[in-house]
Amino acid sequence: MAELGDRLHIQTLLARANTPQNSDDADVVIQGLTQIPKTLPARFFYDDAGSQLFEQICDLPEYYLTRTETAILKDCAEAIAKLTGSLELVELGSGSSTKTRILLDAYAHQNLTLRYIPIDVSAGILKETAQSLLQDYATLKILGLVGTYQQALQQLGPSTLPSRMIAFIGSSLGNLPPAECHEFLGQIAAALQPGDYFLLGIDLQPSVYKSKAVLEAAYDDAQGITAAFNLNMLRHLNRKFDGDFDLNQFEHVAFYNQERHQIEMHLRSCRAQTVHLKSIGLTVDLAEDETIHTEISRKFDLDAIQAELRSHQLETVHIQTDPEHRFAVVLSQIQEH
Ligand code: AVJ
Repeated sequence: MAELGDRLHIQTLLARANTPQNSDDADVVIQGLTQIPKTLPARFFYDDAGSQLFEQICDLPEYYLTRTETAILKDCAEAIAKLTGSLELVELGSGSSTKTRILLDAYAHQNLTLRYIPIDVSAGILKETAQSLLQDYATLKILGLVGTYQQALQQLGPSTLPSRMIAFIGSSLGNLPPAECHEFLGQIAAALQPGDYFLLGIDLQPSVYKSKAVLEAAYDDAQGITAAFNLNMLRHLNRKFDGDFDLNQFEHVAFYNQERHQIEMHLRSCRAQTVHLKSIGLTVDLAEDETIHTEISRKFDLDAIQAELRSHQLETVHIQTDPEHRFAVVLSQIQEH
């Protein structure tokens, strides 16, 4: 174990000066619950219980995304490694790094050097995962960054290896509405040098292969795990802000919005009720059937996302979908600015 020491560094990133995350969170909640329609940001899903529920979602029969992306990565990891050669792999939202192991295997198999920089808001999962990776990959070096994507992208120094690949898999890009998505991709491009790579996993729009029903079932599973995941946001807020949301008085709603090409998740109030979040002095009235919008999960078109990437000088060098065109993995490379 001692020998693991110099192969692993964990660094906690700094928040913006003078804006503690907690007051940011309070502002966002007050703003979201006092507007019409009410909204809460998806990041509040992920307390410890929420992260565990998400892991369970990934194993659900209806949630094809994780399984499909895993299969695609297994199929193309060797090709990607061959294309890029040795590099620094920066992963946004690494979690348990399960799918990343497919890439690590391919680079190891081709005797390429890899420095892995996982970024996650949870220090616990980052440390645990890093330690298990070090045991399994004898020469891997890891720098774990605890913080948000924005913090990480701003604070990443220059790569210590000839090239860098930023990986953002799992279709989490879908959580961002178009304007924020554009801005975020700009931040990614800004953290890359000409010749560097961006690896993106995205869920695709319904087609002849994938019906709307398949898509909607992935967000409203028979076992009710996704419903529990959605409702858990209220429990998280109760704990964080000394609140009294009654989880029995809300129900999970998920549907595909065809015009916007996105799954929407909402929490519907079962009756007229008043909720208090004591620590921030907030009182919220909800009408019967009023909804709180908790998540968008955008579904992408392959031509449109490549055009979006191109607007940031990111040119596709490898693209792969599963045989049923449910999901895609896109490797792009940044051109001379
Ligand atoms: C982690 C954002 C990719 O949108 O599919 C799963 C989150 N929400 N089930 C997704 C989620 C409901 C997931 N992402």
